[in-house]
Amino acid sequence: MLERSTIGENALQALHDEDYAAPFDTRALTHKGLLFTGGRDAQSLDGDWNFCVDLLDTGLRQKWFSMLPAAPENRTEPWDYDPYMGETVAVPANWQMLKEKWYFYEGSAWYTRALDHSPRAGRRQILRIGAAQYDCKVFLNGKFLGNHLGGSTPFCVELTDDLQDGRNWLMLCVNNARTLDRVPMRNTDWFNYGGIYRETQLFDLPAAFIRDMGLRLGPDGASIVVDLEIDGADHGDVQLSIPELGLDQAIAVVNGHASAVIPAQPELWSPDTPKLYDLQARFGDDLVSDRVGFRTITRQGTDILLNGEPVWLRGISVHEDDLTLGKVTTEDDLRARFQHAKELGCNFLRLAHYPHHERAAQLADELGFMLWQEIPVYWAIAFDNPATYADAENQLLELIRRDRNRASVIIWSIGNENPDTDARLSFMRALADAARRADDTRLIAAACLINHTRNRIEDRLAEHLDVIGINEYYGWYDENITDLIEIGRNSAPDRPVVISETGADGAIGKGAPETGLFSEAYMTQVYRQQIEILRDLDYVKGMSPWILYDFRVERRQNIFQNGFNKKGLIAADKRTKKEAFGVLAQFYHARARGEI
Ligand code: GCU
Repeated sequence: MLERSTIGENALQALHDEDYAAPFDTRALTHKGLLFTGGRDAQSLDGDWNFCVDLLDTGLRQKWFSMLPAAPENRTEPWDYDPYMGETVAVPANWQMLKEKWYFYEGSAWYTRALDHSPRAGRRQILRIGAAQYDCKVFLNGKFLGNHLGGSTPFCVELTDDLQDGRNWLMLCVNNARTLDRVPMRNTDWFNYGGIYRETQLFDLPAAFIRDMGLRLGPDGASIVVDLEIDGADHGDVQLSIPELGLDQAIAVVNGHASAVIPAQPELWSPDTPKLYDLQARFGDDLVSDRVGFRTITRQGTDILLNGEPVWLRGISVHEDDLTLGKVTTEDDLRARFQHAKELGCNFLRLAHYPHHERAAQLADELGFMLWQEIPVYWAIAFDNPATYADAENQLLELIRRDRNRASVIIWSIGNENPDTDARLSFMRALADAARRADDTRLIAAACLINHTRNRIEDRLAEHLDVIGINEYYGWYDENITDLIEIGRNSAPDRPVVISETGADGAIGKGAPETGLFSEAYMTQVYRQQIEILRDLDYVKGMSPWILYDFRVERRQNIFQNGFNKKGLIAADKRTKKEAFGVLAQFYHARARGEI
């Protein structure tokens, strides 16, 4: 086609231009464009999309997005892919879970679907993608509208000015390649799923609407602080109503922003009493709603205080992973996850190592679990690369903007197991500052490493954190469990420590070893010893052992692992419990009863 097309000038360029992607890497789709979706109707764009993997990025080189629909017999030039026909896949899904041929596929893939539209005066259309791993480029009717980086947070694109009356074509190019400059970078201990794996929606809005809304308990505990961002109008009134609190209040919009401190005495949210309030906010023709709990989470010395009372976090870590669905989340799967956490005696979950589906925090609000949420600043990120920092900060701000009304979320974690270098320190210090600017009502943490040289909990980042997460595997990677006793004695942190990871692999079923490494018995032993030591460290105010379920990961290939990390207390079938599950549950239930 290019050889003979009128856009011939593109022909050679497509073959010889290795900067072909530059025009399509504006990274313009960020946290600033996120839309508050609570209580809004939306047209679901889920379902079958035309799909094509594109290992060589031929689509960007040849500009497949600028092709016009035509029947094969009417095409006058050779073509390499026709986005308007051919193979389809379901959205949301990870392509690795759909066909054997795509199991280890990493690279670009194209999604195309028709979008029929009949314009109505004064209305605006906003596309929202729940999550697409990793770089997602958006094209409408051949026009590039921007791209989004980050595989675990939502993003929005305004389509209003580019939608035509009748049939439109929406094309997304999603690339999940593992690179040095991404967040996470190219080496992780979880499976690199790809694709559009959370809901896709089209919102039809009035010309002026509520772009964002945040609520929290006032620092005095006797008021509610609300702030809203209005898009499309500078002035007017937002009507906020919280019927159960007898609150129905007009808040003036000034230069597109509205904020107020409203006296109120809400019942406080906690895991034992997960009280939520239904609320609505109206601006002109636009109406949104939410269910919000009010609580405070602070720290004092080495104590974590929930509503002013010391709390001990009985937790477990979880990945967003499933044997058949990959990273696609379902309501049933989430409820099963929380049910297992309840059986364990948990009041806390660490959602690792990236933002999970937003339904997780909504359910935690309802069911009464506290959450640690994290962005995938994992291992050896390119800490000296400003573009990598911009990507990481944007993922953080998207997470905060998406979940800041969730009472269950008590901790924002800015990373996991990073080397204690100067570049890392300034990178993560800046992230901690950015998190506090965006939300000063939660604790900032990171999963840090033990200082193995000085055998103590010590990390230069700690003074910029509220909670020091510690990942330690004594009895497993560090074979000598007694070292943990010494470390416990050597360390004198001045703030709360949460053991964000500990544990051991335990294979079960056919071919599993009876004893020794990778045996269930060995895993149980490690849990017993860990609990014995950690329970006596007074600055340890919680733990979230690694991990609730075995999970898929390419880098685990020994005869007991077979592509899975086997540190789950439950097997990857999400049913079969291992012996260590009982050991931890016994400890947690005893703690919950105040016996220890
Ligand atoms: C690390 C890391 C996890 C990993 C775990 C393990 O601590 O944070 O992502 O899966 O160890 O080795 O099992």
